[in-house]
Amino acid sequence: MSQGKVLVLHGPNLNLLGSRQPEIYGYETLDDVNNMLREKAVMADWDILCLQSNHEGALIDAIHAARLDGTQAIIINPAAFTHTSVAILDALNAFDGKVIEVHLSNVHKREAFRHHSYVSLRADGVIAGLGTQGYRAALEAVMVGSN
Ligand code: DQA
Repeated sequence: MSQGKVLVLHGPNLNLLGSRQPEIYGYETLDDVNNMLREKAVMADWDILCLQSNHEGALIDAIHAARLDGTQAIIINPAAFTHTSVAILDALNAFDGKVIEVHLSNVHKREAFRHHSYVSLRADGVIAGLGTQGYRAALEAVMVGSN
């Protein structure tokens, strides 16, 4: 049996990571990020599912599935839905495990509309501005926190 199960959710436009505004989001691709996370999780004997969607409902469905399949934690970069989605907040509020919100960029250094996050009302931890290292830190926090 594994040590636990973590769901990593990436929101809209993050499929373009590496080629989308690299001066803000960097040159690593989403596959690079997911492969790094998978490697780290597997080494610690954790199950990990990484999923990206440009559709709000698909992200919500994944959160609902996580309520029922023994997932202990969700690491989520809701991307633009961070600033707009009460529905994702509601879905996360129905999930009992740990929630870590990750942003590649420091949203607080950017446009005012990026300063507010609905998801932060639920998140146990928030990491912003560390680029892809933020996902690594989030996964460490999840795996340490469960011991
Ligand atoms: C982001 C920040 C959001 O404001 C933006 O809409 C994104 C990515 C980040 O990772 O820095 O798409 O979540």
